[in-house]
Formats: sequence, structure tokens, C-alpha cells
Amino acid sequence: MGSYRYKAQGERDKNRAGPIVLDRRAFLAWVRAAGKFAIFSVLLLPFAGFINFTPAKKPKFVKVNRPLKKGGFIIEAEFILFDTDTGPVAVSRTCTHLGCLLNYHELDKMLICPCHASRFSKQGKRLAGPAQLDLPTFPVEKTGADEVAGYVVAVT
Ligand code: FES
Repeated sequence: MGSYRYKAQGERDKNRAGPIVLDRRAFLAWVRAAGKFAIFSVLLLPFAGFINFTPAKKPKFVKVNRPLKKGGFIIEAEFILFDTDTGPVAVSRTCTHLGCLLNYHELDKMLICPCHASRFSKQGKRLAGPAQLDLPTFPVEKTGADEVAGYVVAVT
């Protein structure tokens, strides 16, 4: 470990060997630069949040032009619409493990991933497999006046 020595302005120290020697002017320049860097960093801090900023995705509205049968389901490209006791539920078909397209197995009454066999309930709850997250569900609105004519699903 060496010690630092600060020279007065104009002091000559050409023959001295040893640790780096800063003269006062160099030291003050270094302090000024460090201060500017600190102030600049603090000013940029509010913008750091925008680095990972992604705008909210607009939902894509998908029309399903037929009513669900009691306890039935309708398979669409991005979701499966189920008739449940609490009303229609649209569950994503994209597996939360690595994104494979899920199929609904009517006999087992669950969604099973063909890639690594993750299993999900009709409500999207993860039951088994390497997937760790539940499936997302999408908002569903019924269409039709007196009788249900179909549904509009807001896929996000
Ligand atoms: S992608 Fe579905 S379980 Fe792996």
C-alpha cells in the first residue's frame, strides 16, 4: 500500500520514485469530474425506469359467434372458452412453461401441454408439470339481447 502525496502547484518531483503523485490541480480536476459524474447520474436516475419500459399491450377483441353449451367449451386459436358455474371463462392456450400450444383433454377435464406435459384446470390453475405459473384468463363479454348469441374475448 502506498501513500498519496499532494503537491503544491508548481512543485517539482521528477526524481522521486514511488506511488502516483497528484498535484493539487490534478486532484481538484479529479474531484470536479467526479462531482459532475455524480450529479449527472442523479439527474438521469428518473429516466432509468424507462429502460425496461414496455407500453401496455392493447387487447385484441375476438368474437365468438355461437353460444356455449351447458358445461361445454369452444376452442379458438389463442384461448379456450369454457362454460363454468361462475360463467364463461377464456383461458389462454399458451403454456406458461415454454409457450407450447395447449390442448384440452375432455376425458381428463384438463388442459395438457403436448411438449412437457404440464397440466392446468379449466380455470387455468396449474396442476402439475414443469410450468410454474397459472394460465392467464381473458375478460369475456356476452353478446346478444335476451339470449346469449356469442362472446367477445379481450385477448391481451
Ligand atoms: S412448454 Fe408446456 S410444459 Fe413445457
